[in-house]
Amino acid sequence: MPIDLAWLRSQMPDRRIEWFTTIESTMIAASRLAAAGAPSGTVVGADEQTAGQGRYGRAWHSEPESGLYVSVILRRRFPPVTLPVITLALGLAVREAIFSATALECDLRWPNDVLIQSKKCAGILTQLESSGQSSAIIAGIGINVNHSSFPADLSETATSLRIASGHLHSRERLLVQLLASVDTYCDVLEKHGREHVLQLFAHASSYVQGRRVRVEEGATDLCGVTAGLTDSGHLKLRADDGREWTVLVGGLRPCS
Ligand code: BTN
Repeated sequence: MPIDLAWLRSQMPDRRIEWFTTIESTMIAASRLAAAGAPSGTVVGADEQTAGQGRYGRAWHSEPESGLYVSVILRRRFPPVTLPVITLALGLAVREAIFSATALECDLRWPNDVLIQSKKCAGILTQLESSGQSSAIIAGIGINVNHSSFPADLSETATSLRIASGHLHSRERLLVQLLASVDTYCDVLEKHGREHVLQLFAHASSYVQGRRVRVEEGATDLCGVTAGLTDSGHLKLRADDGREWTVLVGGLRPCS
């Protein structure tokens, strides 16, 4: 079923909501809207994306009417923080929203993966949109809600809230909860600073400390044990050869 836009608007009368039946990517539409001056909190969503974007130029599987595919425009007075810390704050928001709406417990895999039982149920893509004198952060969030299965190349690593719980979930209720949680964690970052967000993330994630992982970052491919976060929200890794690395953008995978 398409999303119930009238109900969504009735729940969030003050929020600008731009909804599409089908779109290439909500990131593109949100960037355009941000450049045109759309206010903070504006949400761009779609029932289907034909070219959903993931990190590292990957595609985001966007099955029609099954997931939440949204980009939120954020114009916040964050203290001097880097995009990684904002991504971590958004991960906390997604985790909290999923728990509030479904009672499912999620793990967070640095920097942007939301997992249930080690499989990915949601991802975050954060971009900076700068135009003229104003800038905005575009927070792209994809949540696998009611997918009953995934294409073969994803089936080992992806899950949905439906698969994890055994029943369907309201995308509308989850979205209302998600936007409230995004506001909450942006407020936390604004008021309490990045240290606090880093602590919350480290507490919520089983990947930040003492986890054996493989990191692929550009030409670098190494295995080691995670050793906490830097002040900028990057991940520290003690490699098997004893060297200390700071992982800037790479993704984490299991290491045999
Ligand atoms: C990732 O884990 O690689 C990030 C996935 C982000 C996907 C969302 S879906 C809504 C928004 N529009 C996009 O094209 N991508 C993000």
